[in-house]
Amino acid sequence: MKKNIRIAIDGPAAAGKSTVAKKVADVLSYIYIDTGAMYRALTYKALKEGTDLHDGKALGKLLQETTIKLVPAEIGQKVLVNGEDVTEEIRYSNVTSHVSLVSQHREVREEMVQRQRELATEGGVVMDGRDIGTHVLPDAEVKIFLKASVEERALRRYKEQQSKGIETPLEKLKEEIALRDKLDSEREVSPLIKADDALEIDTTSMGIEDVSNLILNIVKERNEE
Ligand code: CDP
Ligand code: CDP
Repeated sequence: MKKNIRIAIDGPAAAGKSTVAKKVADVLSYIYIDTGAMYRALTYKALKEGTDLHDGKALGKLLQETTIKLVPAEIGQKVLVNGEDVTEEIRYSNVTSHVSLVSQHREVREEMVQRQRELATEGGVVMDGRDIGTHVLPDAEVKIFLKASVEERALRRYKEQQSKGIETPLEKLKEEIALRDKLDSEREVSPLIKADDALEIDTTSMGIEDVSNLILNIVKERNEE
């Protein structure tokens, strides 16, 4: 029986990657690595420092000087940038609307990918993002590509924000998601794309439990091979 395998979960914004990845990691007692949070953390830092977001070299240099830590917390994970807790700030709309610009640069991606691979060396990880199955962990034992209609994904974000007392028009969320999908899918360096050997799951009409159980069954089968 195999142990400590690597599970890669990719897909577009609000497809349910982090919710499902966290659940799967919890059940298996694996580490969960939210690579989107790492790109968000750099974007937060760059906005704070006034770095030109079109300048890949400057962003690469900023990243070299920046430590990003994902620390398990009672609820989910804390994100620390040079020791500063930015868990909430990296979800603000200003970061969300600029993150795809920052993440398109080769200088940024090369360093992030290296850090992400180091975090996964021991195995026993669930890593979610855009390029995990294609680029970060091309040999991952389980690869999943989650998708859902843009209407459903916008509705999910809408409900999520409402539960936090934030009222953003549904149409605005849909536009933001569609734009980010486009930028992430069309960038030159490791774009958002399904790996040939990834299992695609359309979650449009599936609940969190169903998706998590499906993935857990796949992991179980893989472990028994
Ligand atoms: O949670 P949500 O789908 O809104 O996004 P996220 O996973 O936090 O990722 C934020 C952004 O980081 C994405 O829109 C991508 O631009 C970038 N990203 C990436 O380029 N590669 C990854 N492996 C993960 C995220
Ligand atoms: O990480 P990603 O951006 O792909 O999505 P997420 O943050 O995990 O999920 C976005 C929202 O959709 C969360 O509020 C989840 O609870 C919800 N969700 C859902 O309603 N049904 C699913 N099958 C998956 C997620």
